[in-house]
Parts: sequence; C-alpha cells; structure tokens
Amino acid sequence: MNRKLFGLCASLLFLSACTNTPDQPEEKVAVWLDQGWSDEQRQWFHHETQGTATLPIPYEWFIELEQPINLKSWYKGEGRVKFSSTKFLQKFGYIPSPQTAVNPDELPVGFAKTSGIPDLVNGGTYNAIGLTCAGCHTGHMTYQGTSIRIDGGPAVSNITLMIKAMGVSLMETDIDQPRRARFKTAVINKLQAETPNIPLSELNARFEKTYKAVIKGLKAELISILKTKDESVEEGFTRLDALNRIGNTVFGAYNSANIVPTNAPVNYPHIWTTSWFDWVQYDGSIMQPMIRNAGESMGVAAWLNLEPGPDQFDSSIAVGALFEMERLLAGNHPQKSKAFNGLKAPKWPENILGTINQVLASEGEKLYEKHCESCHLPVISSGKFWTDKYWKKITPDGANYLALNLIPTSEIGTDTAQSNILQTRTVDISGMDMSGTVCNLPGGEPVQVTSGPATPFAFALGLTVERAINFYYDKHNISPKKRELMNGGRPNCLQAPKAYKARPLNGIWATAPFLHNASVASLYEILIPAEERASTLYLGYLEFNPVKVGFISTKKDGLSKTKALTKVVVSGPNARHGNFNSGHEFSDNKGAQGVIGPLLKEHERWALVEYLKTL
Ligand code: HEC
Ligand code: HEC
Repeated sequence: MNRKLFGLCASLLFLSACTNTPDQPEEKVAVWLDQGWSDEQRQWFHHETQGTATLPIPYEWFIELEQPINLKSWYKGEGRVKFSSTKFLQKFGYIPSPQTAVNPDELPVGFAKTSGIPDLVNGGTYNAIGLTCAGCHTGHMTYQGTSIRIDGGPAVSNITLMIKAMGVSLMETDIDQPRRARFKTAVINKLQAETPNIPLSELNARFEKTYKAVIKGLKAELISILKTKDESVEEGFTRLDALNRIGNTVFGAYNSANIVPTNAPVNYPHIWTTSWFDWVQYDGSIMQPMIRNAGESMGVAAWLNLEPGPDQFDSSIAVGALFEMERLLAGNHPQKSKAFNGLKAPKWPENILGTINQVLASEGEKLYEKHCESCHLPVISSGKFWTDKYWKKITPDGANYLALNLIPTSEIGTDTAQSNILQTRTVDISGMDMSGTVCNLPGGEPVQVTSGPATPFAFALGLTVERAINFYYDKHNISPKKRELMNGGRPNCLQAPKAYKARPLNGIWATAPFLHNASVASLYEILIPAEERASTLYLGYLEFNPVKVGFISTKKDGLSKTKALTKVVVSGPNARHGNFNSGHEFSDNKGAQGVIGPLLKEHERWALVEYLKTL
C-alpha cells in the first residue's frame, strides 16, 4: 500500500487545496451500540496489531510528526499540533479511542503498534505503525449531536487522503530546519524512554539513516506519480480498492510491472455474520477465513519475504492474533442455539433515531418475503433461516456454513469492476520459484499454480498467502489439528465467479452507503429505478438520515464526490468504470439487465425501509 499514496499534493505543499476535509456536525455524546462485546474485547480488537507496517514511517515518527501547516490554524498559533492527535485524524473519518494499556498513545480506533518489523535500512528491527481490522471495519454516524459507533460496520475513513497529508507533513519538515530539529528531538526522546539501553549516538545515527531513506523514497514516489498518467478511480471516503491494492503491494514489491491502477473501489463491508458465510468478499471468491485475513494483512503492508531461499514466505503477519480476531467475530457455531453469538448486528436505537412504525414494518415483512428472500435468505429471526436448507457442509466431517446466493453480474446489473479483477488480472511472478496447488475441496479438482509471466492473480495470491501461513505454523510448531482449527475448518478454496453475493440483511440500516461500490446513498434509493437515483454522491459527511436510512449526501467542501453512471457498459474503455450506480432495480422495465423485481409503489418502498430498520 505504499506506492502512489503520498500523491501529487506533497510536491505542491499546498495542503488546503489537496487534503481538504469536510467540516463535520458537532458530537456532544458518543455511544457504542451493544453488539455482544465487552469494553475490554472491543478495545483489544481496536488496537491489537495484525503484524502490519501500513504507514511508511516508524511508529515513533507517526506519534511525533507535526501536522501539515494549515494557514488558518497556523495563524491562530495552532501550527505545532501532532499529526497523530485524535482531533486531526478525525478529519479523515477515524474514531476517537481512549488511552488504555492497549492504546498508550491514545490513537484512534484501528491504529496499532507493531514491534519487530525487520529494519531494512539499519538492520535489526523497528516499531511500525499499522492499521488493524477495526481501522476499516468500524462504522460511525452522527444524529442530532449523538455519535453512534458500530463495531464491524463500514469505516467512513479516507486512508489515502491521510497518507497524502502525511507526505505533505514530511516534506514540510524536510524544508523547515527548526521543525526538523524539533521532530528529531521528540522522536529520539521517545525512543530513549522506550529503549534506555541503546546509546544516544546510535539512536541519532539510526534516525538520520532512516530519515534519508524516507525522504528519498518520498521524492522518488512523487517523481513517478508526476510521470505516470493517473488512471485510478478515486477511492475517497468510505471506499478502498482493497483487492487491486493487495496485488500491488504483494506482487508490485516483487516486480513493479505488476502494479495496476486502482479502479475498483469498494465500500468497506460490514463483518458481523461473515465468519459463517461459505464464501466471503463481495464477489464470493475466498473460502477460508485465515487466508482472507492473512491476505488482507499483506495488503496493508505486513512484512513478507518473497526472495527465493529457506526463509522465503517468512513474514510479520500475526497469525495467532488473526485467529483470535476471527474467533471474537465468529463466536460459537450459531445453528444449534439459532442465534449468532460473536459480534452481533447492531439494533436500530429507537431512543436516538426514532421509534419504528411496527404496523408499517409488518407490511414490509410480507414484501420482504415476496421480493427479497429468494436472494437474501429468510431473515435470521425466522425459524426457516436456521434449517439445513440454508446451511451446508463444506467438508464431510466439518461444520455447517451459510450457503449464500451468488448472483451473476449479468443479472444483478451492478458495477462490474470489482468482479472483473480476479477474472482478468494476472501477475508476473517469473523466478519466484513457486508452484503448488490450491483448493483441495473434497470432490473438487485442485488447481495447479506455476510461477510464470502471466499467473492468474487469484491463485498466485492464494498460494503466496497459504505459504506464509504455513511458514508461521512450521516456525511455531503448530500441530495439524490446531492448524485446522486456526484455518477455520475450511480448505483454501478460491473462485472468481463474475457475480456478487447477496448477504443476509441483518443490521443493514447501519451500513450506508449501499452496494459494493458505495454508489447508492440510502436504503430508499435501493428500491427505486436506477435512473431516479442521485447521480452524484458526496461521501464522507457523518450526519445520518433516519428517514431514507443512509448518510446525508449533499454538496459540501472536502467530501468525496462520485459521479455515478447509470448504464453499465460491458465492453470498451468504460467497461470497468467503478462508479456505476446501476442494477439491483425494481422497475417495470422487465427483462432489462439489472431489473430484479417489479416497480414498487411508494407506500411499499416505505414499508420495506421500515422493516429493514428492524433487522
Ligand atoms: C485497509 C482496510 C482493511 C483492513 C485493515 C481490514 N479489512 Fe477487511 N475488508 C476491507 C475491504 C475493502 C473489504 C472488501 C474487499 C472486497 O470484497 O473486494 C474487506 C473484506 C473483508 C471481509 C469479507 C466481507 C464480506 O462481506 O464478504 C471480512 C470478513 C473482513 N474483511 C474481515 C477483516 C478482518 C478480520 C480484518 C483484520 C484481521 C480486516 N478485515 C482488515 C478492508 C479492510
Ligand atoms: C436477484 C437477487 C436479489 C433480490 C431479489 C434482492 N437482492 Fe438485494 N442484493 C442482491 C445482490 C447480489 C446484492 C449485492 C450487489 C452489489 O453489491 O453489487 C444486493 C445488495 C443489496 C443491498 C446492499 C447491501 C450492502 O451491503 O450495501 C441491499 C440494502 C439490498 N440488496 C436490499 C434488498 C431488498 C430490500 C430486496 C427486496 C426488496 C432485495 N435486496 C432483493 C441480490 C438481490
């Protein structure tokens, strides 16, 4: 995730134009909804490292770096506030978190310290600053002064903008000698307090060497950005092209020809209930939770050794912590007790967002059964949902998992960019000395992977991740039985089905914006013909609209603007646009691509919206 991130803005040193963030509504009180986690579990999940070095500077640098100069605040004498201060990071959508033993520097939700990352500049190891699951999978919204926080909900954050701002701060530090001296003193003081046995002269020498490398890297990055045409689709607030970025981080580091533009941004998905899905990811492409989680930690820059040799696939991935995180999300198998007991979907807080009209909602329930259930499954409060019809065994002696419907893109008609990635992308891994098979699903054919100039990305990634996990298991002498448990009892199967999955809609009210590419602002708009949906979305503003159920999307300085396109182009230069708001339509235009149900009457739409609030 390191390339392309500092952005053009850094070269211009013109923060207000390039890293502009929206003014947010005032938050008078904040509440975490009850989703079955204790405060202690929540804080652990918010700050436990998954072994990543997401930001390209050491932890102590991140803590001590000053904010980019904002002329307005500089004039008010606020110029020296730290970049890592909660107030500043909130501008990029991050959520405040208390100072605790697991969060000693009072960083926002999702920021974690990772010790022991190999220091390629100085030798030895260093402390890195990483993002953990909660940085992308914790949601929040405000309503009339109350901030509602949701574990496992989609983050509103804009990570690329934050990293751009960091590039600006570093460049400013480099040209402002007093600021550089202040920064160095603060970093050295912090390191001295943490590691009193390292002599000061060595800390100074290490700082200077790292500094040279960081600034050199930053300048090289800027030059390459200025030279290459930017073909990416802006991710902005609430979105990230996670899949393409994983490929760029893992295989781009091996061969820079493997780097592609990020053109399929997706909304951070909500992750309650997902532990029990037969397939995860929007395109239903990954089966095993450990592969998914470890692959993601490579995407957010865990250290990984791909050089051929005995230590190939050694990594900093915290496999043990990933297992515990997944366990906390999953809970025990839910089918017997007919209830999910890990991270639960949030319940609509009537005391904050208003009472649900139960009469209208019960009309909506009937409409759900008629128009939605065939794809999204019966609702989880129904007895039907828990019957074996909807749960299946993946391995003959294994547990049951929820069998989701995967709907072909030709039928659902939503933007195709994300589902195209695994279908089409290949990577050049010649010389990586990697061959093997993935997916030994009983009854299924294992897929042979060989390292070559055009190895399918999905399989190259699946095998690389599997090797890194096995390297960890071997290194820590994990028994075969424990490995199976840590792998979530499922084999490493992968598929690229050119489809999107229809998930159960429990807690859906708390997950705006909607559709995988965040192209629809509210639940109400999911139920109307695509051409009537807002064609321009402004994402990143936190105020909630409890009537239409979604974020308020009106023009405002600093919000991410997405110009949505309604008609899906299946071939030609626009085929992978990433911003289509088409499909999933209820319209009289029967038979047209993406029309999945009849035009709903206005009253029916509101009944459905009311019912969805109860799920
Ligand atoms: C940098 C942001 C980021 C971090 C950190 C992150 N994720 Fe994700 N996660 C995403 C995005 C974006 C997707 C959607 C990818 C796709 O389907 O294309 C995703 C997908 C998922 C899914 C699949 C959801 C579904 O609907 O199928 C699960 C489960 C998940 N993440 C769990 C985790 C866990 C557990 C961690 C920590 C170990 C984690 N994520 C860390 C951004 C992140
Ligand atoms: C033909 C199958 C099908 C039917 C019928 C259907 N859906 Fe969906 N739904 C999907 C699929 C597939 C997706 C994911 C599409 C995407 O993200 O591109 C989806 C996505 C959604 C989302 C967005 C989820 C998110 O995480 O952003 C909502 C909300 C939704 N559906 C509500 C409904 C409601 C309400 C009904 C009934 C009125 C309904 N759907 C009927 C297949 C269906």
